[in-house]
Amino acid sequence: MKIVVAGKGGVGKTLVAGTLARIYARMGFNVLAVDADPAVNLAYALGVPPEVSSKIVPIAENSSLIEERTGAKPGSAFGLLFSLTPTVDDIADKYGVIGPDGVKLLVMGTIRSGGSGCACPANSLLSALIRHITLMRGDMVIMDTEAGLEHLGRATAKGFDVLICVVEPNAPSIETGIKIRRLAGEINIKAVIFVGNKVSGASDEEYIRGELSKYSLSLFHTIPFDQSVIMAGRARIAPIDYSQSSPAIQAIESLANKLIKEFASGVKPLGGSEKSQIV
Ligand SMILES: Nc1ncnc2c1ncn2[C@@H]1O[C@H](COP(=O)(O)OP(=O)(O)OP(=O)(O)O)[C@@H](O)[C@H]1O
Ligand SMILES: [Mg+2]
Repeated sequence: MKIVVAGKGGVGKTLVAGTLARIYARMGFNVLAVDADPAVNLAYALGVPPEVSSKIVPIAENSSLIEERTGAKPGSAFGLLFSLTPTVDDIADKYGVIGPDGVKLLVMGTIRSGGSGCACPANSLLSALIRHITLMRGDMVIMDTEAGLEHLGRATAKGFDVLICVVEPNAPSIETGIKIRRLAGEINIKAVIFVGNKVSGASDEEYIRGELSKYSLSLFHTIPFDQSVIMAGRARIAPIDYSQSSPAIQAIESLANKLIKEFASGVKPLGGSEKSQIV
């Protein structure tokens, strides 16, 4: 499965993306976690130690790599000749770092797709990289994105099987979610599902269901508001490492199972032997 996680700012995208990645890795899948948010927070939710994550250079900012693969310096003027089909198949292995449970983290940085898509060397490389990633067979790919929808262009999200739209029990996050769904439809993402996060009780869940039903949409899953997620943030420990049995982590585990059942039935984990721990 190739999963992209999107939603309004602060709804819990990174918690969901990072925790899903860890859970799938524990199930035995080869997991590639892609951080497409320039704020670079996915490493934390995955449990990659700060001394490792602080040294990662996002692909979008790796000028020498961009020049090496496209033949042009980043920021080159439009019209300069550069490769639109750069070689990318070795990048995830070369620039990814291995975190707990063997999850591979690739920090991409943002693709500025704006309008028809910016024709610059950096975007050429990143688009080719995402295309390659969505075509990788047998791997679980989970991409965390920047808040909002500006980034959700063809270049970024096309080719993903499932878009998880995270919403909270409030109107603005649901409105953003509806807009994201519309955009996702335009770029042919196969499925868009809504996940309610920070849900504090039946009335919160009812509220989200009610708002979505106005658009004939349903709520796929809910994750409760969970104080241990807050405490994990204070302790700077990945939520799944802080408390695996906490309600939010348990709910994300059941989301992981539901996603497989719904969108990848018959898919079996491939990995196992070559998985390594933190490097
Ligand atoms: N289920 C939850 N219960 C309690 N707190 C939560 C829950 N989910 C997320 N949070 C808290 O909400 C904040 C935002 O979470 P997170 O960083 O995952 O959201 P995000 O959508 O990735 O944000 P951003 O748009 O900034 O990337 C964090 O402080 C996190 O600890
Ligand atoms: Mg985030």
